[in-house]
Amino acid sequence: MSASVITVETQQNVSHNLIIQRPPSGLCLQGRIRVPGDKSISHRALMLGAIAQGETQIQGLLLGEDPRSTASCFQAMGAEISELNTELVHVLGIGLGNLQEPADVLNAGNSGTTLRLMLGLLASHPGRFFTITGDSSLRSRPMSRVVKPLQQMGAQIWGRKDNSLAPLAVQGKSLQPIHYNSPIASAQVKSCILLAGLSVEGQTIVTEPALSRDHSERMLRAFGAELVSDPETNSVTINGPAQLVGQKVIVPGDISSAAFWLVAGAIVPDSELVIENVGVNPTRTGILDALAMMGADIQQENQREVAGEPVADLRVRSSGLHSCTLAGDIIPRLIDEIPILAVAAIFAKGTTTIRDASELRVKESDRIAVMAQQLNQMGAQIHELPDGMDITGGTPLTGTHVDSHTDHRIAMSLAIAALNASGTTTILRAEAASVSYPEFNATLQQVCQ
Ligand code: S3P
Repeated sequence: MSASVITVETQQNVSHNLIIQRPPSGLCLQGRIRVPGDKSISHRALMLGAIAQGETQIQGLLLGEDPRSTASCFQAMGAEISELNTELVHVLGIGLGNLQEPADVLNAGNSGTTLRLMLGLLASHPGRFFTITGDSSLRSRPMSRVVKPLQQMGAQIWGRKDNSLAPLAVQGKSLQPIHYNSPIASAQVKSCILLAGLSVEGQTIVTEPALSRDHSERMLRAFGAELVSDPETNSVTINGPAQLVGQKVIVPGDISSAAFWLVAGAIVPDSELVIENVGVNPTRTGILDALAMMGADIQQENQREVAGEPVADLRVRSSGLHSCTLAGDIIPRLIDEIPILAVAAIFAKGTTTIRDASELRVKESDRIAVMAQQLNQMGAQIHELPDGMDITGGTPLTGTHVDSHTDHRIAMSLAIAALNASGTTTILRAEAASVSYPEFNATLQQVCQ
């Protein structure tokens, strides 16, 4: 690689700036790479392992900060989890309903999945009291979406702003089954209710307006829970109480992390990348559909099923892109990839329209506002809308100082945009990437030629 493309500048040992300097002669991306384990699957493997009977073995766990938060919360409640590594993690479960009352506040860090899924489990532990908090981003994110359905099941939960903001206090109770019609397509909401339903006698049902990622359903079934999905109505029913038995889980590479290389390979001229071992669960492949609509050259190779999840190697070659419209049912299938899709749209002909994505405003940052501000500073033409954005492609980007707002997906999206920007781009607070992709800078360095 050209040694001068990437520099990391450490700020007082806690934060770092990523400096990307595009050589005047240009660059291209080449290589075969792997991305870290899927974040959603890593959280669920640790959680189900912790509450199952017996041992769970996890291969390919993501070593990002988010799964570390999940592991430390469940260790504080009595689960034995070996040192986290990608080879093999052993989790000795304590059995459903046996989470111990922790002597201190549980800290979910930056992770919405940790907090929201865990809440369903804590609320259904009668007689035990729990308090949960997170970092400043998580403490500003809406929790009423899970608190309300849990209250309908009989849960007792307290927090600021009418019980909608962490820190939250939970008095565990014996809960009742419900049929919850979720107003949003959210796997965190669905999974929270299903996890609460594990120890409830009878049928707990969740219906969502569009199908969100189904990793919880797949893994709960593998661990022995009785679940019935109805694709006609986007409903899932759990028959409780369940018996969960520890399993071997193999975590595929995260398509949300692969998305950065798919877009980078598509927009940086003369590039070709193969990303091996990527999870291609159909509830997550909206990014592949969106890039295909934009004219990207992406092939799925070596398609296979690994431990209940579809997996493939993805080959991307650079090509001219054109605009597309993203709205409706595809949105939950690519919600985490919209920041990097916005970068693809900047280099596509025409105006790309993204709608029905107001959820982006309550992610780790307000991703609509932050992406529009940061990319427009580089010369992009992004028009912010309440539930999405219009992105007019074709204007060249110029390197400048931009800020991740401590959001991992923003940090990495800005780095990919910088590969096609003239001059030098400095991404402030780029260490945020380690929430889901600690090796991002190293892989970027590896593929830049
Ligand atoms: C996740 C679900 C999604 C996604 C998040 C991970 C999960 O959130 O954005 O990064 O693992 O269940 P919502 O369920 O809030 O859409």
